[in-house]
Amino acid sequence: MGFGRGKVILLGEHSVVHGSPAIAMGISRGISAVARAAEEDLLTLSPWGLQVRPRSDGSEPLEQAFAIVLGTYSNRPPLRVDVQVDLPSGAGLGCSAALGVAIFDAIDGALRISRSREELGRMAHEWEEVFHGSPSGIDNMAAAVGGVLRYRKGAPLKPLSLARPLRVVVAHSGERSKTKEMVSLVARQLASNPARVHDKFDDVSDLVDEAEVALSIGDMRTLGRLLNWNHGILSSLLLSTPKVEDLCRLARAHGALGAKVTGAGGGGCIVALAEDGEHAHRIRDVLGSRSFVDEVRQ
Ligand code: PMV
Repeated sequence: MGFGRGKVILLGEHSVVHGSPAIAMGISRGISAVARAAEEDLLTLSPWGLQVRPRSDGSEPLEQAFAIVLGTYSNRPPLRVDVQVDLPSGAGLGCSAALGVAIFDAIDGALRISRSREELGRMAHEWEEVFHGSPSGIDNMAAAVGGVLRYRKGAPLKPLSLARPLRVVVAHSGERSKTKEMVSLVARQLASNPARVHDKFDDVSDLVDEAEVALSIGDMRTLGRLLNWNHGILSSLLLSTPKVEDLCRLARAHGALGAKVTGAGGGGCIVALAEDGEHAHRIRDVLGSRSFVDEVRQ
């Protein structure tokens, strides 16, 4: 069975695309996949009811991406890959990356190829490019490796150790967004006012450094404040929406230590930091049926 995790970005989305560091957390929900030798190459996706055949000149990204995956294996039999998706797409939770990782992982299993989770994450980068153009790479690494990670393009991946368990509530605004469009919205702002946007990226970099320290000493209050500041910067880059703002406000009003939009923004999910497990469940109850609790203990 192959598995790719969903992820939340705790700090640093968007600026990570432009070379700044970010911190992501792999979540328990994700995508599982099983591969086996078959009559023809086929990818099925439940519960979406999709059947995909590989086509490198295909008009559908899934056809192209599946062709890329299969093309990396030589001397293989035709493969059928059955995927079970337990993540909303277009929600900032890294659905496409989790899908790529799960499929590579399943095929590796079927062909008895063993490789590290980090290498698996790197392999899924090309898959992500089909969907997002020029992804930073943080989603595919978090989907493969899990835990809490500091990521910067071109730098070694840094798993972070936690002094205290990290408990978050993830809540969906119900609005779908497209990562590619949100990334180009930021790129346009960067092109029209480089100094202003670079200043914001530098501020986010500082927040990431401070968050790494806060995690290492278990200072969750400080971490929460850093999340709030990061949210303010993301909002100033037009990445929030009224629904996202409402969710963040509600989470904070019910004692969340911090709350922010996570992932591409323009809708999608927020992540709220809770004091402990019980507190996380209380915040989840307030945020409603489209929210869930997750944690990393490490
Ligand atoms: O919304 P998601 O899950 O695709 O996350 C996007 C994260 C970005 O930083 C906005 C893009 C990237 O490639 O890192």
